[in-house]
Amino acid sequence: MTHNKNILCIGAGYVGGPTMAMIAHQCPEYRITVVDINARRIDQWNSDTLPIYEPGLEELIRATRGKNLFFSTDIAGGIRENDMIFVSVNTPTKSFGEGAGMAADLQFWEATARQILQYSESPKIVIEKSTLPVKTALAMERILNGTGNDVRFDVLSNPEFMAEGSAIQDLKQPDRVLVGSRENERGLVARRALVDIYLHWVPADKIITSNIWSSELSKLVSNAFLAQRISSINAISALCEATEANVDEVARAVGMDSRIGSKFLRASVGFGGSCFKKDILNLVYLCRNYGLDTVADYWEGVIRINDDQMARFTRTMLKAMFNTLAGKKICLLGFAFKANTGDTRESPAIYIAKNLMAEKAVVVISDPQALRNAAVDLQDAQGQVSYIEDPYAAAAGCHAIAVMTEWDLYRKLDFEKIYKIMLKPAFIFDGRNILDHQRCFDIGFNVYPIGSPPLTRF
Ligand code: NAD
Ligand code: UGA
Repeated sequence: MTHNKNILCIGAGYVGGPTMAMIAHQCPEYRITVVDINARRIDQWNSDTLPIYEPGLEELIRATRGKNLFFSTDIAGGIRENDMIFVSVNTPTKSFGEGAGMAADLQFWEATARQILQYSESPKIVIEKSTLPVKTALAMERILNGTGNDVRFDVLSNPEFMAEGSAIQDLKQPDRVLVGSRENERGLVARRALVDIYLHWVPADKIITSNIWSSELSKLVSNAFLAQRISSINAISALCEATEANVDEVARAVGMDSRIGSKFLRASVGFGGSCFKKDILNLVYLCRNYGLDTVADYWEGVIRINDDQMARFTRTMLKAMFNTLAGKKICLLGFAFKANTGDTRESPAIYIAKNLMAEKAVVVISDPQALRNAAVDLQDAQGQVSYIEDPYAAAAGCHAIAVMTEWDLYRKLDFEKIYKIMLKPAFIFDGRNILDHQRCFDIGFNVYPIGSPPLTRF
């Protein structure tokens, strides 16, 4: 079958895989190829065991793979054969040199730009899907167009706003799709070509366009605002614990003001995930670079509150359990950074597990999807840790349970059964406020929610 558009995506990760599967599904007349330097990842995409877990993803892959969606390691061939190239490689926080621990590490990004330049024989539209500092498109343009050869490149910014765990739904019905371009004739033609793809399934009024720098910045700012809301409510949760107010009641009262809104006001042990922290650090670094130190300090506060929330959680555990955790067995229910994903990047559970192990606690980790990643995250941690998927087996013989991830299955557990198989006094620390605290207390547990007074027998 001939396809009337050939699209390449470089980077077969959490963004590249699902996003291209959605485009392939919605645009059967296009041929989509996803390439990656990681051959194992590509093999997994071509197998029955996909490299990531995302509800609805398997069905989408089954419907498109081998028809108009292909996964390959042939990056050079992919670049030669396709006219539109999405780039969704990783852009982690830099861990070395100038800006270490703050700035975005753009080495994968630049390597991709150079590969595109090396293998292109015809005009290309290059689309930034990765999250990048403002003005990265300018660097990309300079690399691509700086050699004086005849190939024409247009660079667009098309940040991805999907969240893990709901990626397929977010891609299918996005709040908005943002396309940033140069606002000259060539830029507008390229912009139109990308908008045409999304028009296959996204209503026109949800596709917004802007200048390229606004588009790059909007992505960082969206994540910063979302994280800021979580840090705001988490800061208030500390005050609630000190004053006997209840953070869920406060969040409901505040969130019902339509000017504020109710989303992202769930107090928790802290936010995790691969992007919030790195994107805020990136924003802070940019602000400092432009001499805007007060602005930088403001956004850095969002991360400080998050760090403090995680530290506070382990302090509460230590204090509640008679100021010693040494030799005590503690079950972490959940390790993923949120429910419905196996991703553990920057998960608060990593930090909490390491803190507990530093206190010489014996940690048992349970999670329906994330145990493989958990074992990698903790491979260098000093102390005793084990991994047990079944939550009942994991809790058996433990002194305490700490809920780290809001998996639905944890809401439905038989806590009477769990109470019987735990050591007494038995403790629950609910880092996600998902359990029925009064009921757990009535069963016999000492219960420590986030942002409301503990229910204890002491
Ligand atoms: P990821 O690490 O899961 O995937 C990136 C992939 O790029 C990896 O498989 C890596 O091997 C590949 N890669 C790196 N350099 C390459 C090269 N030169 N050629 C070919 N492949 C190469 O990362 P991700 O979570 O998909 O994130 C990608 C980007 O999207 C990041 O900038 C991130 O900030 C952004 N983003 C992520 C999410 C999310 O939910 N994960 C959401 C929105 C935006
Ligand atoms: C986030 C954004 O929501 C996406 O729009 C964005 O595209 C993505 O980052 C990205 O750039 O990578 P994601 O990190 O996948 O998505 O997940 P979120 O649902 O935002 O949750 C992030 C963290 O905040 C999780 O640990 C979650 O448990 C926590 N959270 C979320 C709270 O603690 N309270 C809340 O009310 C909401």
